[in-house]
Amino acid sequence: MTGLLARVRVSVAAHDDFDGWRDSARQLIQAGVAPERIAWALPGDHAGDLFAGDAPPAAPARAPAVRASRDFLDLAGRAVLHADPRRFDLLYRVLWRLQSAPRLMADRADPDVRAIDALARTVRRDMHKMRAFVRFRVVEDAQGETYVAWFEPSHHILRTNGAFFVRRFAGMRWSILTPQGALHWDGETLREGPPANRADAPAGDPAEALWRTYYASIFNPARLKIDAMVKEMPRRYWKNLPEADLIPALIASAQAREAAMIALGGEDSGRAPDSLPALDAAVAACRRCAIGCNGTRAVPGHGPADARLMVVGEQPGDHEELAGRPFIGPAGQVLRDHARSVGLDLDTARINNAVRHFKHLRQGKQRLHQTPTAREIDTCRWWLDAERQLVRPRVVLALGASAARALLGRTVSVQQERGRFVPLDDGAQLLITNHPAYLLRLGEAARVEEAARFAADLALVAQE
Ligand code: URA
Repeated sequence: MTGLLARVRVSVAAHDDFDGWRDSARQLIQAGVAPERIAWALPGDHAGDLFAGDAPPAAPARAPAVRASRDFLDLAGRAVLHADPRRFDLLYRVLWRLQSAPRLMADRADPDVRAIDALARTVRRDMHKMRAFVRFRVVEDAQGETYVAWFEPSHHILRTNGAFFVRRFAGMRWSILTPQGALHWDGETLREGPPANRADAPAGDPAEALWRTYYASIFNPARLKIDAMVKEMPRRYWKNLPEADLIPALIASAQAREAAMIALGGEDSGRAPDSLPALDAAVAACRRCAIGCNGTRAVPGHGPADARLMVVGEQPGDHEELAGRPFIGPAGQVLRDHARSVGLDLDTARINNAVRHFKHLRQGKQRLHQTPTAREIDTCRWWLDAERQLVRPRVVLALGASAARALLGRTVSVQQERGRFVPLDDGAQLLITNHPAYLLRLGEAARVEEAARFAADLALVAQE
């Protein structure tokens, strides 16, 4: 057999090693190695041995640059994570064809293009499912609490999904164990570990019990559509979901609950959590509105459980979402500076927000604040009411229009309402003022004037 016809066995270092595959593929294209001559060998796969042959031939010195369109690279980067062992053949075949047909990716009827697209879509869905269905259990170790989850992805998505979990759970220590490998986050560094067994992960804990209670309480029988539910939460994920073994019983009792709900005038019979940790766990899992589904983490209230003063903002911002604490960014700084100037002690206050997730628009690396809609505020109001019932503050400070709506249940003009106390339904005294972020947006002269009014409002709260 001549060198030209010999099979070439090319190793890929890891199942998700797109960069490694791409480097080899470029070299092979430049050396003119046709797709049918290549056997891609994956870790743990011995099929390639049958064709053990040359290492990838070196590309000629003046080989033309390899053409790979942006849409090919985007799709290929996802498709490569699919578990199908033939995916590298497919990707190489398309890359090879792109050299003579640069517009190939635009031909959606082409069987190879459709095949890559299908792989990429399946992978995207698997990544989404992992984000939705990873459930952490709390474990105590020498350094305190750590969170451990067991998950069985269908495709090689673990490493790629790691960045999402780091962003979402930046403030806690966690491990995600899978049969393909593990990820460990210590609050600063993400490390990889070897494949794990389900037995390595803890089986259940109080946080899980909370989750189950919460799930049972928000399960709305009137909206029960079993097919849609199974599509969203496929049965193969059920075994690792603490709430899943409730599902058959909940479905079975759905008719009875629906009848009871109709009798109650259609009210959701979900009960409010009976402690602040239970509330926080339930808020973290809340997907009642689109903001809750956007993949950021919920920011719980912060401060003493029996605080006399509750300060309510609009929603967490970028800094707050990352740190998991309300008002620690620029608006929080303005609030604290003005509070200090009038002797208002915020360290003894309970600080929270009308909306618990960060509504934003991603623009490049930035996450731009978006104002929540009235509907989103009203949906999240349930949590604020629950927190007020648990903390029972005597004085409540609403910062801005969203907070005022969440507390009063209607839209009011901050400028008309500010500067005087109004009673809330539980007898607490509410004072409405501007949001401190408003000060940050004003020009110098207007800022000085508004700062004085803002401080005067805070002084009223300090004196109450
Ligand atoms: N703005 C708010 O309304 N809340 C925060 O927690 C931070 C900024």
